[in-house]
Amino acid sequence: MSEPVIKCENVYKIFGANSKKMLQDSNGNVDAKTFQENGCIVGVNNASFEVSKGEMLVVMGLSGSGKSTLLRCISRLTDATGGKIFIEGQDLLQLNNKDLIDLRRNKMGMVFQSFALLPHKTVVENIAFPLQIKGIKTEDSINKAMHMVKLVGLEGRENYFPRELSGGQQQRVGIARSLAVEPDIWFLDEPFSALDPLIRKEMQDEFLRLQDKLQKTIMFITHDFDEALKLADRIAIMKDGIIEQLDTPANIVLNPATEYVRKFTEEVPREKVLLIKDVMDTSKDNLGDLQVSKDEIIENVAEKILTQEKSVAVVDNNNEIIGSINPTKIINTVFGGRKNNS
Ligand SMILES: Nc1ncnc2c1ncn2[C@@H]1O[C@H](COP(=O)(O)OP(=O)(O)OP(=O)(O)O)[C@@H](O)[C@H]1O
Ligand SMILES: [Mg+2]
Repeated sequence: MSEPVIKCENVYKIFGANSKKMLQDSNGNVDAKTFQENGCIVGVNNASFEVSKGEMLVVMGLSGSGKSTLLRCISRLTDATGGKIFIEGQDLLQLNNKDLIDLRRNKMGMVFQSFALLPHKTVVENIAFPLQIKGIKTEDSINKAMHMVKLVGLEGRENYFPRELSGGQQQRVGIARSLAVEPDIWFLDEPFSALDPLIRKEMQDEFLRLQDKLQKTIMFITHDFDEALKLADRIAIMKDGIIEQLDTPANIVLNPATEYVRKFTEEVPREKVLLIKDVMDTSKDNLGDLQVSKDEIIENVAEKILTQEKSVAVVDNNNEIIGSINPTKIINTVFGGRKNNS
């Protein structure tokens, strides 16, 4: 595998005057409660993971679990208290100011939870601004910005000021501004949370379409598990600064690592998440005529399988039979495991 684009090794972010010393004294065993009693707040607690090129890692967790703080450490808007962060193999904490500005301007893009628009610039000027900072001619930058205005559905509002826009519209300006620069590494902190459901869905679809084409390396924060499942290659679930599990959507739903993760996934309709290959058996005996692809989402083929008497053959991309699935398995997947073990 190629070198990871983002690599975190035992990253800690602790707020408070004594944080560095307390972290040192703790030998890496950070107990949030003890730290709090000593005036420190634990933001990120011992995060280690990698994100590879073109991958979308979605970070989930309740409010205050450390999602934004983790992202801020990696984009170095704040300095981690401990641990190491590498961007394309470069040690982030070793970069001088010039290199850091360069990295931010040309490689990384960010969309913040708060929109952070410039109040005295119009929509199109806000979007064009980072392009102009990069040295792109005014006319070209405005053209590009207008293209982005259309992309996020704000045509006709390009000359409005941020205060004249709704929260959702401001958020779309923030997304457009960040997209205009075409960063390789993209950090998005709940970018769609202020959008109403219909536009949110459209933005998600548009986002997936773009990602399919652009293959950026993305860390995306959301509160919404459905959104996470729709977008993620892998999901990291955080609690009290700790990454409780980092895994594919299917594994998180099928094998939650902790009680907290299980609770998170409890209400998830499994048939919408899991693929046939996630639940199939390797046995190839007693097969009927029907064949389904290993990559089908269960929901899409469940009805067909449920009407069969015999096991259904599961085939790979070359139409080779690689296993089987029977109606009982479908029923167990769809109805089992969710409510029963609580
Ligand atoms: N500048 C700061 N000073 C002190 N504590 C902070 C600071 N920023 C964040 N925290 C604390 O760190 C913890 C994690 O905050 P963070 O903003 O990362 O949470 P989050 O998961 O992004 O939450 P939300 O979903 O509400 O955005 C919280 O307990 C928060 O109070
Ligand atoms: Mg946050």
